[in-house]
Amino acid sequence: MAKTIFPLTLLLSLLLSSISLTLAADYPLSTKSRWIVNKSGHRVKLACVNWPSHLKPVVAEGLSSQPMDSISKKIKEMGFNCVRLTWPLELMINDTLAFNVTVKQSFERYGLDHELQGIYTHNPSIVNTPLINAVVYSLGRNDVMVILDNHKTVPGWCCSNDDPDAFFGDPKFNPDLWMLGLKKMATIFMDVNNVIGMSLRNELRGYNHTAKDWYMQRGAEAVHGSNPNVLVILSGLDFDADLTFLKDRPVNLSFKKKLVLELHWYAFTNGTGQWKSHNVNDFCSQIFTKEHRTGGFLLDQGFPLFLSEFGTDQRGGDFEGNRYMSCMLAWAAEKDIDWAVWALTGVYYFREGKRGVVEAYGMLDANWHHVHNHTYLQRLSVIQPPHKGPGIKHNHHKKIFHPLTGLCLVRKSPCYESELTLGPCTKDEPWSYSHGDRLEIKGGHKSCVEGETSVGRSVKLGKKCTKIKRISATKMHLAFKNNDGLLVCLDVDSDNNIVANHCKCLTGDISCEPASQWFKIF
Ligand SMILES: *[C@@H]1O[C@H](CO)[C@@H](O)[C@H](O)[C@H]1NC(C)=O
Ligand SMILES: *[C@@H]1O[C@H](CO)[C@@H](O)[C@H](O)[C@H]1NC(C)=O
Ligand SMILES: *[C@@H]1O[C@H](CO)[C@@H](O)[C@H](O)[C@H]1NC(C)=O
Ligand SMILES: *[C@@H]1O[C@H](CO)[C@@H](O)[C@H](O)[C@H]1NC(C)=O
Ligand SMILES: *[C@@H]1O[C@H](CO)[C@@H](O)[C@H](O)[C@H]1NC(C)=O
Ligand SMILES: *[C@@H]1O[C@H](CO)[C@@H](O)[C@H](O)[C@H]1NC(C)=O
Ligand SMILES: *[C@@H]1O[C@H](CO)[C@@H](O)[C@H](O)[C@H]1NC(C)=O
Repeated sequence: MAKTIFPLTLLLSLLLSSISLTLAADYPLSTKSRWIVNKSGHRVKLACVNWPSHLKPVVAEGLSSQPMDSISKKIKEMGFNCVRLTWPLELMINDTLAFNVTVKQSFERYGLDHELQGIYTHNPSIVNTPLINAVVYSLGRNDVMVILDNHKTVPGWCCSNDDPDAFFGDPKFNPDLWMLGLKKMATIFMDVNNVIGMSLRNELRGYNHTAKDWYMQRGAEAVHGSNPNVLVILSGLDFDADLTFLKDRPVNLSFKKKLVLELHWYAFTNGTGQWKSHNVNDFCSQIFTKEHRTGGFLLDQGFPLFLSEFGTDQRGGDFEGNRYMSCMLAWAAEKDIDWAVWALTGVYYFREGKRGVVEAYGMLDANWHHVHNHTYLQRLSVIQPPHKGPGIKHNHHKKIFHPLTGLCLVRKSPCYESELTLGPCTKDEPWSYSHGDRLEIKGGHKSCVEGETSVGRSVKLGKKCTKIKRISATKMHLAFKNNDGLLVCLDVDSDNNIVANHCKCLTGDISCEPASQWFKIF
């Protein structure tokens, strides 16, 4: 028999926990044109990781493996400042689930005895509490912002076209109940400072989905009426890959400075097999155009766009995912977009009927402690800090980003004549790219990328500047004429030194990998 947990007790403990938060000064956040800003109008860039909590047990994943505070610390340590925490609507609209089921009961119900033992070991304080998310406070204590993401209605893995909760009006997606649940969630977390946003519904989709019945504006009003502090984050159609319909029909809300749109972009977003069956350079450039049409245009219209899901298999074997990742990162870096990677998960308690399912896209190992793949994390590190926007000190230096490695073009020695290599993007090299297409280090002396080299040899910085053109459809190949009058491209050797090579994979060939020659100047 379920032990009753009184809502009042629950609320009280929620309120008490929020007092311990120390980061009140920054919040609430609002928007200023395409930027998310704090109370002083300073840009706050969202560099988030998705922390799933919407699967059948309705408990944030990982708590049977590590104490929640150590997971929160790890999130911070990996360079994220924010979590998109997923929750199922039933947690709010089904009173049994909200108040009468404890963590212990939920695990027992699915036969997750081993996992329950893990909870006793690592997070004993939550064993007999209701399911609602204690991790929000742990994240707050560790200075991590939270976006509460209503992922679906019924607890379980997401998302397919056949789900009964794919779009408004589907059997398990009653818009009125949805608004009710959103209001409750917004109210519960009203005074919890680190809850800075609510993402109203994940990946609208299904056989019945149309722009005409996109009720997101009603949900946004419901949330704002209950909690005016949070940003309201609205998903588009077609698994949140399509916001095109907003171009001629802007979101119309009764309040201002709180609206953010979200977009998802995976390797399979445009159908599987696409990255395999096209020339990667041509396809990446087509996808740049497509992303602009389906979401990127909102930045130009003055709305923040939150790339709230992307990612790929981190074990290295995903052929299409690897091709996509360099293209996507170049785009995200150039746009300096707010984002959330899928996902934090090492291993899921119980997913699609199976226990202990490893998340191939996950930032953490199956032990929920070690970084799954340091190279992958390094590639994300360049998009973690803000590069521009209100209050960001901008010295107008360019970065020459190499998305394949997550590194940037830097000098080997801090001189005006030097060899070039790849190094951390945090190193502030005073690059400029102008004056007749020269890649130049600003300062007292004339110092730019020289063309005096041959194929396969290193590229140096010196006085004999050469014209460097951004060629090819992506404009990410940096080409110049060398000693022998040959057109060559900047490339990287096995030691990460910059060399000149024949420009590769410019167009046509579908078997060729251009990414070692891709540099994004931003
Ligand atoms: C806004 O952010 C800036 C930079 O992080 C910080 O210096 C400032 O104190 C913040 N303002 C408020 C009101 O929190
Ligand atoms: C919760 O459990 C109590 C006692 O077991 C029961 O009386 C009550 O009806 C339950 N409430 C819900 C909403 O399930
Ligand atoms: C509410 O949640 C309980 C526990 O998960 C479940 O057994 C019940 O079917 C749910 N009720 C509805 C109406 O979905
Ligand atoms: C689509 O809408 C119809 C009519 O409202 C409904 O009967 C059907 O269940 C919906 N389809 C899905 C997949 O939810
Ligand atoms: C925006 O919504 C308000 C209130 O619902 C309505 O009065 C107004 O006509 C709408 N504006 C547009 C441009 O649709
Ligand atoms: C994406 O998929 C659609 C439909 O399959 C196709 O027409 C289009 O050419 C594809 N490529 C891009 C870049 O959108
Ligand atoms: C880690 O990720 C990189 C690219 O992001 C990939 O090339 C490599 O194979 C991965 N390493 C392991 C051990 O999975």
